[in-house]
Amino acid sequence: MTTTDSPTPAFPAAATGCPMDPAPFMTELREERPVSRVTLWDGSRPWLVTRHADVRQALRDARLSSDVRRAGFPFLSAAQAEAIGEALITFIRMDPPEHTQQRRMLTSEFIVKRMEALRVEVDATVDALIDAMVAAGPSADLMEAFALPLPSMVICRMLGVPYEDHGYFQHRSQLVQDTTATPEQVNTALGELAQYLAELAGKKDAEPGDDLISRLVVEQERTGRLTRHEVAGMALNLLIAGHETTANQIALGVVALQSHPGQWEKLVADPSLIPGAVEEILRHQSIIPTGLQRVAREDMEIGGVTIRAGEGVLLQTSTANRDPRAFDDPDRLDVEREARHHVAFGFGVHQCLGQPLARVELQSALAGLVRRLPGLTVAAPVEELDFRHGGNIFGLFSLPVQW
Ligand code: HEM
Repeated sequence: MTTTDSPTPAFPAAATGCPMDPAPFMTELREERPVSRVTLWDGSRPWLVTRHADVRQALRDARLSSDVRRAGFPFLSAAQAEAIGEALITFIRMDPPEHTQQRRMLTSEFIVKRMEALRVEVDATVDALIDAMVAAGPSADLMEAFALPLPSMVICRMLGVPYEDHGYFQHRSQLVQDTTATPEQVNTALGELAQYLAELAGKKDAEPGDDLISRLVVEQERTGRLTRHEVAGMALNLLIAGHETTANQIALGVVALQSHPGQWEKLVADPSLIPGAVEEILRHQSIIPTGLQRVAREDMEIGGVTIRAGEGVLLQTSTANRDPRAFDDPDRLDVEREARHHVAFGFGVHQCLGQPLARVELQSALAGLVRRLPGLTVAAPVEELDFRHGGNIFGLFSLPVQW
């Protein structure tokens, strides 16, 4: 059964309802028409998939392509469509076998063992940031003082990017993810970032260090598997994926814990709940409001609906993670819930490569905050917070807290 004659809401829709919840129209669609068309900026009408079982199944279906070069790929803005220059085509936007070859070059960087070794450094960074907050306290903008610098410092350290330059790439990587930015702005930002990273790769070539970009240069570029341009593209992908994501997830997590009575206090009383709480925060608070973009390579079915070859598909992880068929009382944040089957990191071959790192950062950040600042509260009502709408990453521009 197809539903081509049903209304097709504009997507992404203007923000309505509680910013901490998926847009109400998507929740309605999940219950009434779980695979239904929406209309994008260019008039194209991809399918929005909103249920947990359908999203999971689709994410492991090789008939759905992540390749942006394929006709019908559902771009979310003119800027995104026009910015698909060489710089953006890294493996997140490729299919196997090309995707597999490039992803494999990085898997050893993110293995759990390496991440656990990094945990000591992450814990020390968390402590240093909280020291600075306490010294300037008893209030702060948690985004600026903590949530942004933590992942930014960590990914810089991993890649071997000087942290002093973070202002340069933070601003540009925000622009790249802003669906309201013009194509020129996005292209300029991408070009500058790629240029900066290519120059940095040149320096690593002359003097390799113990960092990811040096290893890419030595192991992949010098052996002819990657060009300098591709090394810069991969680093760019990681730099962008590595800081806005975790930063916003930390901030949204704090707000969610504080606005669900007793949840923050549970973590203060029993920090062993933190790993589970992180999974629950990932489930409950989606930083990806627009869904994961795919295009059908051939005719197929999702949730009983026929998708034709060349049609776009948006796999909505936020509504999937609030699907009552997968989670009891899904809108309730419960740090003691078993939430590991959430799809916040995607699923299948493109499942988030950085998830071990994101988990270490989120766990360390929360553990540091509840231990050092147990009386922390958000200093404004949720509806007055400065939410970041209109981008590929949802989150907060600032987060006033006090303790
Ligand atoms: C809370 C934090 C994060 C969330 C919620 C998140 C979410 C995701 C999701 C949903 C995907 C799948 C995209 C798709 O299927 O189209 C993905 C892919 C990816 N993520 Fe993350 N991510 C986070 C943090 C990170 C970090 C810290 C890094 C690395 C530094 C990272 C690197 C990547 C990469 C390289 C991919 C592409 C994987 C592939 O295509 O094979 N992510 N992420």
